[in-house]
Amino acid sequence: MPVIFGKAPGKIILFGEHAVVYGQPAIAIPVLDVAATARVTPLLGAGPGRVHVQAHDIHLDTLLSDLPEDHPIGAAIRATLAEITPEYTPAFTIQLDSTIPISAGMGSGAAVTVAIIRALSAFLGRPLPDEQVSGLAYDIEKLHHGTPSGIDNTVVTYQKPVYFQRGEALQTLTLSHPTHWVIADTGEKMPTRETVSAVRDLHDSAPETYDAIFAEIGQIVRAARQSLAQGDLPRLGGLMDRNQSLLESLQVSSPSLEALIAAARGAGAVGAKLSGGGRGGNMIALAPPEKVRQVEKALKDAGAVRILTTILRETT
Ligand code: MEV
Repeated sequence: MPVIFGKAPGKIILFGEHAVVYGQPAIAIPVLDVAATARVTPLLGAGPGRVHVQAHDIHLDTLLSDLPEDHPIGAAIRATLAEITPEYTPAFTIQLDSTIPISAGMGSGAAVTVAIIRALSAFLGRPLPDEQVSGLAYDIEKLHHGTPSGIDNTVVTYQKPVYFQRGEALQTLTLSHPTHWVIADTGEKMPTRETVSAVRDLHDSAPETYDAIFAEIGQIVRAARQSLAQGDLPRLGGLMDRNQSLLESLQVSSPSLEALIAAARGAGAVGAKLSGGGRGGNMIALAPPEKVRQVEKALKDAGAVRILTTILRETT
């Protein structure tokens, strides 16, 4: 049996995080410069069903049978085996690597899960279609997030820009011009589960107030979809800034995010906001092409620990 690889990219949310958990739409894109990889190798000479799991980044080197039921890596492997129910499971090692920063709003958990499902299903001779991969990954996302919207598993599985709304069929985006998105990491880790749960507490304390904020974010996302289709950069920038203000009202921003956002705007970005769960992790800025280098430099000078620029190409 050959060695089999599975791979999934990172993701970044352009508009609509948190409100998307409450049924509003959101826009997200894959980030192909970072990825999670799973490598499955047969364990020759070991008895059937013996599964060795290695993830050096998180110092994991163990047998699947020793991982707790709710461990997301163990759960992803078990869910894939349960989905395929092979008549015979050969012993194997699954080795996980990722260049996606953890707890930073870039979909690292979903990408690791998707890489596992892809590699393992291929290893067992039954590569699963995207819809099934995304569905299985969503179940595992619940262990990471509690109440995920499903946007992370969707973007990293389909690997294309999406206009996502919970419970609705996947919609792609029309893009008339290339846009340059500069992503900068505060270096502060914050699990999405925590911010999603904090927003839930806020919402439960005053549902009408927070539903109104979510609805306004939904309007921003709809307008952003239109602006992307028209290539209207100034309007997109304004929408990002307004989305950021509303995320501040949800109390998911942070001083370090705001310092980077201010630096990007000061260097010529047309708009900037936090991205993902917030209270740390990454921010994103939309830069006119001629300002990209300036924005990157300003972010570096303002303390970003990692900067990545991704170009969203026009659709034909
Ligand atoms: C996480 O990438 C985005 C959130 O909206 C949570 C979710 O959609 O599951 C914060």
